[in-house]
Amino acid sequence: MNAATWKEKLSAIRDSFSVSIAQKPAGNPGALELHYLGRKGELALLLRDLKDIPLEERKELGALGNTAKQEMEAKLSELKGAAAGAAGPAAKTDLDLTLPGWPFPKGSLHPLTHVMNRLAEGFLKLGFTMADGQLIEDDYHNFEALNFPPFHPARDMQDTFYVDAKDQLGKPMLLRTHTSPVQIRSMEKQDPPLRVFHTGRVFRSEAVDASHSFAFHQIEGLYVDKGVSMADLKWTADAFMKDLFGSAVKTRFNPSYFPFVEPGAEVDMSCIFCKGGANAAERCPVCKGTGWLELMGAGMVHPNVLKGCKYDPEKWSGFAFGGGIERFAMLLYGISDMRMLYENDLRVLKQVQ
Ligand code: DAH
Repeated sequence: MNAATWKEKLSAIRDSFSVSIAQKPAGNPGALELHYLGRKGELALLLRDLKDIPLEERKELGALGNTAKQEMEAKLSELKGAAAGAAGPAAKTDLDLTLPGWPFPKGSLHPLTHVMNRLAEGFLKLGFTMADGQLIEDDYHNFEALNFPPFHPARDMQDTFYVDAKDQLGKPMLLRTHTSPVQIRSMEKQDPPLRVFHTGRVFRSEAVDASHSFAFHQIEGLYVDKGVSMADLKWTADAFMKDLFGSAVKTRFNPSYFPFVEPGAEVDMSCIFCKGGANAAERCPVCKGTGWLELMGAGMVHPNVLKGCKYDPEKWSGFAFGGGIERFAMLLYGISDMRMLYENDLRVLKQVQ
């Protein structure tokens, strides 16, 4: 925390204290005292944060904090005096069981959790089941079984965090760079046909900016059965986008490359801000005037991937897709900077209920 934020927080605490004191919870100044000045009270916690602030600034902030504390103590003892006086000499206790309780702040789900829940609802309705995965993966499930041979340049697209532990083959374990390993783990666990999805966290060694982070979230889907075709993928992707963004959106496929699908595609959705470029008087900043937003990777599961999981590619075919949850959340809630999703600022998080 920097000095400016600290000051803002102090003034927020003072403001909320003034409001509370103006409402005079007459029988219970003790509860107010505990809430603001107690050992784990708001002010005490803020004063504890001072340790993170450089020494030169800490002195001034400390003094401000102490003044606020003294003021609050004075107001509270005034209130206590008034309460005692009003209750008359017989009332020796602050306890009044007839008063309403101190309000608990109401929690809400994080926007990313909201989006993941909505996606889960949609895919459960389409007959997909929720599959499990793991955040620390081995090279085989994250790359090799997905048809990324060692040294294949496609690995470079996913700058990887390796950890100290080694897998059974002696290769370093890693933080999964995408949710696609869940495809492999699901096929290893279950014989075809299979229809699964998974949402969860992934990690890449990337600098954080408005649209990148070293940890983010993805959704993955996989459907393998007899006679599954690209047409099934197109229908599913279209239904998925319409469920999330409304029935007016259109989808289109562009050819693309991912080692674990053939053919591979990028799935675009018509821009929800300029309505696919219709009536665009000026260039839409979100889709850069193209009328389309790139939302997912997808394709028909590569025969090598099926074979590796002991699924006979002559008999079974399937489609897979994957996309970023942050991107969905940003579009759905009109968030322009991804970092807002990670800063835990209640003013932002409370807007999604
Ligand atoms: N795993 C890919 C990534 O993170 C996204 C992806 C592309 C997933 C194509 C898929 C797929 O299932 O078929 O870049």
